[in-house]
Amino acid sequence: MKKRKNIITVAIDSPAAAGAGTQAKLIAQHYNLYYLDTGKIYRYIGNLKIKNKKKFSYKLVSEKIKLLKLNYLKSKSLLTNEVAISASQVAKDKKIRNIVHDFQQKCAYQPPMKFNGSILDGRDIITVQVKDAMFKFFITANLNIRARRRYNEYKALNKKMTYSEVLKSLRKRDKSDKNRKYGPLKKTKDSILINTTKLSKKACFKKIKSIMDKKIYN
Ligand code: C5P
Repeated sequence: MKKRKNIITVAIDSPAAAGAGTQAKLIAQHYNLYYLDTGKIYRYIGNLKIKNKKKFSYKLVSEKIKLLKLNYLKSKSLLTNEVAISASQVAKDKKIRNIVHDFQQKCAYQPPMKFNGSILDGRDIITVQVKDAMFKFFITANLNIRARRRYNEYKALNKKMTYSEVLKSLRKRDKSDKNRKYGPLKKTKDSILINTTKLSKKACFKKIKSIMDKKIYN
């Protein structure tokens, strides 16, 4: 694949609800980067599995991914806990991960010309998808804080889940995402750790921006 030259590439890996999406959006906006939330692709496939229990196949997934538009990933139906669980199950499958690979490569290395580059967040972005990214951030926060944030998001969306149900679900997903065979979540030595447990969104972005500005403007 032909890569666009001299673009900014940002790769972020993080466990669920650590604030990576929020930071990715702020970075994308500030540096005019094309943003792909890769978790949404797995959620889209997870949802496809829920909706097509009998017809679900690699062929169906391939066809759908070929026609995938970023708009489809904005659907609120992808934000439920049921879809998140289904996503983390389909994400264990090597064939599914391979189908999604090309789509992610295109977004990372051939972003539309009006953007200065790209930013992808997920679980295997630094380790597999954009290994040569100009910036690599591993964003995390302690489990209770992440559960509290996700619980508040669900509440705002009128989804009825208790805090302890959210906590249990995140713990289970963390375990599966870290221990799976293909594309497991792990921090590489060359990535910068950003722990958002005690940082506000603004403080976190300030930290990231100062790291990025140093490299871009020096
Ligand atoms: O980030 P989000 O919580 O939306 O991701 C849903 C699920 O998709 C994760 O729990 C994970 O199993 C899977 N995922 C993945 N690789 C990525 C992004 C997400 O396996 N790059």
